[in-house]
Amino acid sequence: MVESIQRSTREERMEWIKTAKYNLFNLKSDQVFIDLLTDSGTGAMSDKQWSEMMLGDESYAGASSYYKLKEAIEDITGFEYFLPTHQGRAAENVLFSSMIKEGDIIPGNSHFDTTKGHIEFRKAHAVDCTIDEAFDTTLDHPFKGNIDLVKLENVLKSHPRQNIPMIIVTVTCNSSGGQPVSMENIKAVAAMAQQYDIPVVFDSARFAENAYFIKIREATYADKSVREIVREMFSYADAMTMSSKKDAIVNMGGFIGMKHKEMFEKASVFNILFEGFISYGGMSGRDMNALAQGLYEGTEFNYLETRIGQVAYLGQQLKDHGIPVQYPFGGHAIFIDAKRFLPELPVDQFIAQTLAVELYIEGGVRGVEIGTLLADRDPETGENRYPDLELLRLTIPRRVYSNNHMDYVAAALINVFERRVEISKGLKIVKEAPILRHFTVELEKA
Ligand code: F0G
Repeated sequence: MVESIQRSTREERMEWIKTAKYNLFNLKSDQVFIDLLTDSGTGAMSDKQWSEMMLGDESYAGASSYYKLKEAIEDITGFEYFLPTHQGRAAENVLFSSMIKEGDIIPGNSHFDTTKGHIEFRKAHAVDCTIDEAFDTTLDHPFKGNIDLVKLENVLKSHPRQNIPMIIVTVTCNSSGGQPVSMENIKAVAAMAQQYDIPVVFDSARFAENAYFIKIREATYADKSVREIVREMFSYADAMTMSSKKDAIVNMGGFIGMKHKEMFEKASVFNILFEGFISYGGMSGRDMNALAQGLYEGTEFNYLETRIGQVAYLGQQLKDHGIPVQYPFGGHAIFIDAKRFLPELPVDQFIAQTLAVELYIEGGVRGVEIGTLLADRDPETGENRYPDLELLRLTIPRRVYSNNHMDYVAAALINVFERRVEISKGLKIVKEAPILRHFTVELEKA
């Protein structure tokens, strides 16, 4: 599908962003020239996916589309049991409802905001065990998504088993920069989990990108296919939650994959309650068909090489101009280190959000803040949480933009970089929601 995009003037953008309360989620899409807000649901579906849409079976129960998806999920991931959901956070909601209770501790690697939201909503705690290397954007480390085994074991040792319902492994790790987890690390986490008898759940939104990185960065996997690597990755997990809007290249959808019947039966109750009957769970038949097809396309080596290569193409231009970016480049996005881009701004003025606003004003490019706004307030103390990294994420939709668009984005950000000394004031909050505030927050100039 091809869409036209609209250019605008700097004056128009200054007015629009002010009306949007300096929150880029409040912009209308036609006020955006190049939209790098997210890679979630924004990919272009293929000819084969669109043809699958025409074959959708919309039966309430037992639709052929359900069985087609079930077969594709088992083939790609190896999970025998699955539940469809309308998107990734719905998969979290269903699975966590059946597994997490108040006071629980859930260790993992930089839990994504909805994952953390669903944990904290249940008055449980997410403990980040990501390796320290992830928080130094200048360090070159092939697997910055890895879990620090010492940190993990400390958590497992210091809490009773009944308070740790699962360990979450996010592949790739979005919040730390689209960074992969190595197979070696996955294996070690699974071995430790087995020792403590704790299930491992993969947050799998970008599992195929993770497998691609394992293939090209972990020597012993060079000759394995992406699909073989994917199967091996999932063999170490008890369950997976999936936002199909990412690596399965559909506009809407999600699922839970599970190894154990008992886990499936428990989760099914909540699936029916929150999502829909277990054979459609929030998805129409045609969407399940497109998803089944997308799982195959999203795990093709040539596609992944082109996609991740395009992300690196943008990253390299920025790096060559001295712009501080999380390195190595992520799978789905380039993450700008906003604290190093704007070193004079105080953290309580939302540095990465300020940079996002400046880039929008400069070129109509919409990125997204992964920083203090996203980190929310501590639910117990009510204080702002200041994460180690303040990042501006430039997220590349799948199969949508050309490298020519990437050149434009790079030029716009380079312009902002050249006038960065003039950016002396950040933003302050006028209005915010108690949880996941970044979506609706209202800001003004500090
Ligand atoms: N897990 C990860 C790692 C994610 O990146 C996301 C979504 C989810 C879970 C939730 O899935 O949106 O389908 O409900 N990430 C999007 C993003 C929103 O922009 O990175 P969802």
